[in-house]
Amino acid sequence: MAIVAAVLSACCRSEPPMSEIVAKGLERARIQSEAMAESLEGKKGLLPRSADADGHLVTSGSEWWTSGFFPGSLWYLYEYCGDERLLGYAQEYSARVEKEKYTTGNHDVGFMLYCSFGNGYRLTGNPAYRDVLLQGAESLCTRYNGNVGLIKSWDDHADEWEYPVIIDNMMNLELLLWAWKTTKDEKYRRIAVNHADKTMQNHFRPDYSSYHVVGYNPETGEVTDRATNQGYSDESSWARGQAWGLYGFTMMYRECEDLKFLVFAEQIAKYILEHPGIPEDGIPYWDFNDPEIPDVPRDASAAAIMASAFIELGTLTKNESLAEKCRSRAETILRTLTSEKYLAEPGTNAGFVLMHSVGNMPLGLEVDVPLVYADYYYIEALMRYRQIFLMD
Ligand code: GLY
Repeated sequence: MAIVAAVLSACCRSEPPMSEIVAKGLERARIQSEAMAESLEGKKGLLPRSADADGHLVTSGSEWWTSGFFPGSLWYLYEYCGDERLLGYAQEYSARVEKEKYTTGNHDVGFMLYCSFGNGYRLTGNPAYRDVLLQGAESLCTRYNGNVGLIKSWDDHADEWEYPVIIDNMMNLELLLWAWKTTKDEKYRRIAVNHADKTMQNHFRPDYSSYHVVGYNPETGEVTDRATNQGYSDESSWARGQAWGLYGFTMMYRECEDLKFLVFAEQIAKYILEHPGIPEDGIPYWDFNDPEIPDVPRDASAAAIMASAFIELGTLTKNESLAEKCRSRAETILRTLTSEKYLAEPGTNAGFVLMHSVGNMPLGLEVDVPLVYADYYYIEALMRYRQIFLMD
């Protein structure tokens, strides 16, 4: 009898298979995102961004760095279920971002266009989308200074940094590598690789944690300082920054097949995987070094970006043990994000999929709220997991 009870209890404790987790997450994302798209229909130019303290939807225009994520999520969800209504929404919300192809005032054009039109082009081959992406890549290149060997991130912090480069900027390189492969113009590859090389040299500490901002002298290319803007302190590990680095160098290896990027991504992965401050459920605190841990918010957006990157890195690394750890951490994160603690009930959370992300803690902006990019990378991670591990 005792044995039967023990077996029953073990069965009851057993976790659902990942196929159930993935299906549940994608289905919830579909419900929430369709309703979000419907609610903003006819509201010209608006894109979902976050929620305010009262739980009301906060939108942005296309100029805000997050504008491409909602259309990107719609493309992934269209890919998932093939629903024509989702296709229409993905097209409509991508069109709201199109004018950013002429953006030269910041580095975010990669985020804006590659998540939206990049996924749209991948799925439809629409030549008009190709043109948008190529114009966007051209705009991004205008921010590259050969003396420095990096793309300048911001123009609007001129009082602090003459030539700031943030770790997030690694993500924008994917657009350039796409442009290189599409046009065969080496210029795009050279800029992306130079940027990644300099980032490896200057943005990381010996333990492979990264600074948020590195300031450069635009004439000499020398580093002027290493600091933070969104993290706890200059020497801390801002969680999303670590995620951008992991994702960025994994992507660089996927696109360029240069082993130096794989080795670097593996080191960043080890730093994150072995970090004692990350809770067992895989969702990091907003900054790994906030001294108030555990009484500070977690950041679901950092977790979602890490999950997506870990899934990809696990398929690229030749180190079997690391591959297993990457997969296991991704699964842990996806299980947690798909639990009631993070996954919103339909019709709640201002229409977003995930709860509990942190935008900009030092400014007290978007703290413990839904964020549209948390949803995007969560959906991407689920889609990657499904494609790699669940489909024949
Ligand atoms: N790229 C800005 C952020 O990660 O908050």
